[in-house]
Amino acid sequence: MVRHLRSEANAGRMLPFVIEYQGRLVGQLTVAGITWGSMCSGHVGYWVDESVAGRGVMPTAVAMVVDHCFRTVGLHRIEVCIRPENGPSRRVVEKLGFREEGLRPRYLHIDGAWRDHLVFALTAEEVPEGLLSRWRRNRPRGAPRDPQNTRGNRAAPGN
Ligand SMILES: CC(C)(COP(=O)(O)OP(=O)(O)OC[C@H]1O[C@@H](n2cnc3c(N)ncnc32)[C@H](O)[C@@H]1OP(=O)(O)O)[C@@H](O)C(=O)NCCC(=O)NCCS
Repeated sequence: MVRHLRSEANAGRMLPFVIEYQGRLVGQLTVAGITWGSMCSGHVGYWVDESVAGRGVMPTAVAMVVDHCFRTVGLHRIEVCIRPENGPSRRVVEKLGFREEGLRPRYLHIDGAWRDHLVFALTAEEVPEGLLSRWRRNRPRGAPRDPQNTRGNRAAPGN
């Protein structure tokens, strides 16, 4: 897996990140399918360990990486494709204010079948103030504080 991620990253098609929480590797976030030219787009995939789920780790990580992609890498659009039944993942993009674009029927082959996916996206114009600062400002009240030590391996600290 690491060899594949490195080779895609070296080819400029992917940005693989790990997520650390309190000094422990707890997840991954990957910007894949990076396309330049008139598109300048990539799509994000992610997972986090069950032991830290529900603390806002993933929305924070996605916000950091989206800011990095728009401000440093120069991408214009980030897309997340989610199976309709994946409630926790849909909450991540809903809380971050991704725009729902619609359903792609039979989009990806997963667990032995072609699965429908909902498409969520953001373009750089939609977050002029940065996604991390918007997430921090609008984060649901009563949610745990921003996790410390949560960072992607290439996102600028505090970005
Ligand atoms: C989807 C996923 C990345 C969310 O990460 P997270 O850091 O837990 O995100 P959040 O803390 O914002 O929680 C998102 C939602 O998960 C649900 N949730 C809360 N606590 C949870 C727990 N202990 N276990 C599982 N889900 C929980 C809630 O619905 C929450 O929404 P809410 O904030 O409105 O209550 C994580 O659940 C995961 O890795 N799932 C398996 C892999 C996967 O589905 N990847 C996405 C493919 S598109």
